[in-house]
Amino acid sequence: MNSFSNEEFDFTFLDEGFTAKDVLDQKINEVSASDDKDAFYVADLGDVLRKHVRWYKALPRVTPFYAVKCNDSKAIVKTLAALGAGFDCASKTEIQLVQSTGVPPERIIYANPCKQVSQIKHAANNGVQMMTFDSEVELMKVARAHPKAKLVLRIATDDSKAVCRLSVKFGATLKTSRLLLERAKELDIDIIGVSFHVGSGCTDPETFVQAISDARCVFDMGAELGFHMHLLDIGGGFPGSEDVKLKFEEITSVINPALDKYFPSDSGIRIIAEPGRYYVASAFTLAVNIIAKKVVLKEQSGSDDEEDTNGKTLMYYVNDGVYGSFNCILYDHAHVKPVLQKRSKPDERYYSCSIWGPTCDGLDRIVERFDMPELQVGDWMLFENMGAYTVAAASTFNGFQRPTINYVMSRPAWQLMQQIEEQGFRAEADEQDVGTLPLSCAWESGIEHHPATCASTSINV
Ligand SMILES: Cc1ncc(COP(=O)(O)O)c(C=O)c1O
Repeated sequence: MNSFSNEEFDFTFLDEGFTAKDVLDQKINEVSASDDKDAFYVADLGDVLRKHVRWYKALPRVTPFYAVKCNDSKAIVKTLAALGAGFDCASKTEIQLVQSTGVPPERIIYANPCKQVSQIKHAANNGVQMMTFDSEVELMKVARAHPKAKLVLRIATDDSKAVCRLSVKFGATLKTSRLLLERAKELDIDIIGVSFHVGSGCTDPETFVQAISDARCVFDMGAELGFHMHLLDIGGGFPGSEDVKLKFEEITSVINPALDKYFPSDSGIRIIAEPGRYYVASAFTLAVNIIAKKVVLKEQSGSDDEEDTNGKTLMYYVNDGVYGSFNCILYDHAHVKPVLQKRSKPDERYYSCSIWGPTCDGLDRIVERFDMPELQVGDWMLFENMGAYTVAAASTFNGFQRPTINYVMSRPAWQLMQQIEEQGFRAEADEQDVGTLPLSCAWESGIEHHPATCASTSINV
């Protein structure tokens, strides 16, 4: 505990047998009598820990450098710092955030191929040496601003099947890579390796195989030119929840043989990755409150749609929207669906509903259509898997404040985290220990919950 500072990171211990869902229900019960029904998150830090252990089980040769951009909450950074992860930072501010938790500069990669010169200088002044590039201009900037930098050449991938494409903006082709290596040699800059990103929300693991094979080509080019490259960075793109077609282990089972083929263990190449979504998506659940409601009668809507059930459709207005947490709908192509906090009664009528955010903008629609029982102003809706690309890009447009985040962790998870912090990660032992941790965030909707008070201690660490 003492290696943490005690600001901005407090969480509630879960009593044995209680889950993050219980905390959420408890909070809802607490505020139900009051008018103060602001949207809020419950985030399970134990879920982040479980992801970390699962990572090493699936990708034992790959060190994760968490992509801070995905969710820059200090509690997340501190948790991953304690677990010994590295960090992918995109800017001076992210570097400052990570370094404020005591992470040494060697555990940071400045993984933005196009950087402002003053921010390159900031990295140099703070010991951060690893950084990516994909152009000659960037090479020249780095040569002047940070001659001791250890550069990683980012190559383009075929990310046409990813949910969010990145190679439209970044990444050198193989042909350009050779020119860049030659130029780096002239400028006397150290190129230590190759990075790529298959696109966020990867749907085809073969993209990794092609990118790893391309990286091998660039390593060989580098060797011909006299570089001693020793770092492969396989980027992000891994799923963060189970509601996806392609599961994490399905991807890693394709990556591992490709790594063994192109970068065998005895090659001495260090392999890192930059997972963002993977670590945080499933840890966060958002609770929003219905602040307004409109009933649209069938004749009013002018729709002949047979499925406009029961003669009316319903519009709900909730207190977080696309300018807040649900910016993931616009920027991350997310499709969200609510889980009702109240159990529906048997034989309850279902209505076609739309769900809208609180701002005055017509763009602020969260769900276009969802069939559910009728709800009232003051009722709650939950949205699971809301940790990735949500809070990090949320604005306060129209004056609506961002939801507060309530962090929780079970005692066994806290103990395992401390153990990993003190002794480092011990693959087999920690995998066994994590198997005994209670699940917290991945609950079934409508599950029976404990009415009793569940959270015993609140701790600042
Ligand atoms: C350079 C870089 N690394 C890592 C990530 C994280 O990707 P993901 O959240 O898909 O793991 C991103 C996301 O945009 C990125 O741009």
